[in-house]
Amino acid sequence: MNLLIMGLPGAGKGTQSEFIVKNYNVNHISTGDMFRAAMKNETEMGKLAQSFIDKGELVPDEVTNGIVKERLAQDDIKEAGFLLDGYPRTIEQAHALDTMLVELGLKLNAVINIEVNPDILVNRLSGRYICRNCGATYHKIYNPTKVEGTCDVCGEHEFYQRPDDQPATVKNRLDVNIKESAPIIEHYTTLGLVKNVGGEQDIDKVSQDVKAILD
Ligand code: AP5
Ligand code: MG
Repeated sequence: MNLLIMGLPGAGKGTQSEFIVKNYNVNHISTGDMFRAAMKNETEMGKLAQSFIDKGELVPDEVTNGIVKERLAQDDIKEAGFLLDGYPRTIEQAHALDTMLVELGLKLNAVINIEVNPDILVNRLSGRYICRNCGATYHKIYNPTKVEGTCDVCGEHEFYQRPDDQPATVKNRLDVNIKESAPIIEHYTTLGLVKNVGGEQDIDKVSQDVKAILD
């Protein structure tokens, strides 16, 4: 199964990706996670990405298209499929992805679009915290760890908040993404691939709706 998951910053793409990967065994490809790994390792690409991410801007298309193309060409993608999270994020990226898929002989099955009113997203992002060891994502109010200070997934105790989740950066991230996402949704609607999901429900309810689509 080859999927895209779309939605504004904080809509729940990463959270639902964890659910999809666990239940359907596809390869999760998050461009945001790839950039954060490169930033942590202080690679040239990481330093470049950081200069955009810190301001809530998009990383240039040629850089982003390059890392996605490289990842999609790996053997496990043909075997188990993929779930692209946070890509494409411009219409140019969507066209580049169309070309890549043709070249690689891959076909998209669905685009899951998580719909959330932007007004609630600042709150979602300011309460997010992430396990430093395994990357599992939580929220102080809506999705806390079962035991305070201990990751449900790996049992470690160190968490961090993303620097780009500061309210000032979030505002710019939202503005940029609202503007860029409309033509992408239109593109995939024309192709008959878009499946809308209400992202303001509880996390488990959203997962049930996603499951109904994928089953
Ligand atoms: P990326 O990491 O993709 O960030 P994003 O799109 O801004 O989305 P988030 O990861 O912040 O949100 P999410 O939808 O995954 O929400 P989550 O599940 O964590 O990209 C970061 C940056 O990298 C970009 O700004 C850009 O600079 C760059 N970049 C990445 N891809 C790029 C591309 N293709 N082109 C150019 N640049 C690119 O949930 C959020 C919080 O809400 C969590 O705390 C969670 O527990 C909680 N939550 C989730 N669902 C619910 C629910 N239903 N109810 C209540 N709380 C919920
Ligand atoms: Mg995410």
